[in-house]
Amino acid sequence: MDVSTAVNQRISTRAFLDKPITEAEARDWLAQGQRSPSGGNLQPWRVHVVAGDARAAVVDMAMKALMANPKGEPTEYPIYPENLWNPHEERRQTIGKQMFETLGIAKDDKAARLAWFAGNFRFFDAPLAIFVILDKRMGHGQWAHTGMFLQTLALLAEERGWATCMQECWGMLRPSLKTHLNLDNGEVVWCGMAVGYPDKEAAVNTLQSERADVDEFASFAGF
Ligand SMILES: Cc1cc2nc3c(=O)[nH]c(=O)nc-3n(C[C@H](O)[C@H](O)[C@H](O)COP(=O)(O)O)c2cc1C
Repeated sequence: MDVSTAVNQRISTRAFLDKPITEAEARDWLAQGQRSPSGGNLQPWRVHVVAGDARAAVVDMAMKALMANPKGEPTEYPIYPENLWNPHEERRQTIGKQMFETLGIAKDDKAARLAWFAGNFRFFDAPLAIFVILDKRMGHGQWAHTGMFLQTLALLAEERGWATCMQECWGMLRPSLKTHLNLDNGEVVWCGMAVGYPDKEAAVNTLQSERADVDEFASFAGF
């Protein structure tokens, strides 16, 4: 698969087949992903991979933690900046609206929306998931480089016939995850990623998110 195909076909996949990924396959994928660049070659990330019983135990923990704290647990690292401004806020609202339309969930059906959101914490039924962990002493550069690592993994997943959904929603449960995953004191889960074979029949996986045109985000000089 060429890079453009991988980039163009990758979408955030939110329905998966009941088809496992083996430990050997996951190891090979991560080893390849490790070729991702990072400033000073720090390789600032750490990854915890779960499948089978370990995956089920995280889901179980998450359901309990969310029951106790439906709005999420306290975190120093909010998912979005406060009072998100346009055009970003508008884009966030648009993708949300389009997703619920694709799912056939009405705007005022709060229960269905919440049930859908809870699916995040079952990894949308993906058989494998990773948690990307950072040392809190790392700065914004290292967080950004970790994002590159995630995208590298997402593209390599495409090449393997898998699909992914990056899941920053797990940031809602950082204290519980820290305990559950037995993280070191200074460590924090930044993001999760659901990984598996995509259910191509699922309506939600047909959603193609929009992007701004080049002239909206780039300026050119010297041509
Ligand atoms: C770091 C990161 C975290 C994300 N977290 C979530 C999440 O928790 N749940 C979810 O359904 N989608 C999540 N997404 C998916 C975005 O909504 C998605 O990338 C965006 O709408 C563009 O759509 P596309 O990935 O299909 O191109 C996340 C994406 C990124 C890059």
